[in-house]
Amino acid sequence: MGIKQALKSLDAFPRAEDHLMQKTQTGAVVSIIGLSIMAILFLHELTYYITTYTVHQMSVDLKRGETLPIHINMTFPSLPCDVVSVDAIDMSGKHEVDLDTNIWKLRLSKDGLIIGTEYISDLVEKGHTDHKHDADKDHDESSVQKHHAHGFGQDAEAMVKKAKQALANGEGCRVYGVLDVQRVAGNFHISVHGLNIFVAQQIFEGATHVNVSHVIHDLSFGPKYPGIHNPLDGTERILRGASGTFKYYIKVQHVTNTCISDVSMRELLYLILSLPSFHIC
Ligand SMILES: *[C@@H]1O[C@H](CO)[C@@H](O)[C@H](O)[C@H]1NC(C)=O
Ligand SMILES: *[C@@H]1O[C@H](CO)[C@@H](O)[C@H](O)[C@H]1NC(C)=O
Repeated sequence: MGIKQALKSLDAFPRAEDHLMQKTQTGAVVSIIGLSIMAILFLHELTYYITTYTVHQMSVDLKRGETLPIHINMTFPSLPCDVVSVDAIDMSGKHEVDLDTNIWKLRLSKDGLIIGTEYISDLVEKGHTDHKHDADKDHDESSVQKHHAHGFGQDAEAMVKKAKQALANGEGCRVYGVLDVQRVAGNFHISVHGLNIFVAQQIFEGATHVNVSHVIHDLSFGPKYPGIHNPLDGTERILRGASGTFKYYIKVQHVTNTCISDVSMRELLYLILSLPSFHIC
């Protein structure tokens, strides 16, 4: 008897007296209103769950002073390393002299084998002063002549000889490394600008002989990210019978990857949890 009583007390759904279970008109009205509210709430929750909300967020970039690494791996099959120079300048007028630059120039033989390396530590310093030099000369024709007459040092002679030899051997150059730049607009050049104009004339004997054919193996911005596609990777520009300047205009957009799946999971959970609550009404 005691066990039966105890068992009975565990009944979670005790039955009401018969007179409490009569159906009435007011009861029906309450039921209809309740069911309508349930249906409306359910549909509302459902549409809320299904709809995609786009959230725009704008915030101040707090990473001031952080630099942007540019990974470069390019091959110039017909330009010896002796004549190739790299320089970079940004919108704030900052030369990449005092930044950590890790650029190597790899000398390539005619068959594409690496036959020597050169580390570039002071990117712009050299190129920039040379530029100034050139500009000064352009202003003053007579000084140009003077320079030409007896301005050629032993170094220049040796350099011309070396470069000509390299050109004759069909040497190429691979520029490889990382350039750390400020995160502002700017540009970098891989060019023969580093050469004194007279030296350049002696080496190439005419601008059309500067063969700037190149292959871009890798040109990427920021930290490496798996699966990212860099639009310029694999670009090949081979010139035949002409010279020129190639300019690539690149806009780098800062993207943050935020996982949103936990948000929709929460919504889903909320929907599931709210379903039984309809029955409680
Ligand atoms: C640069 O690209 C070439 C060609 O794809 C590749 O063989 C070489 O390993 C790359 N250099 C480095 C240091 O990644
Ligand atoms: C420039 O170099 C490329 C690659 O070595 C070669 O295919 C092309 O014929 C050269 N162009 C001229 C004008 O010599």
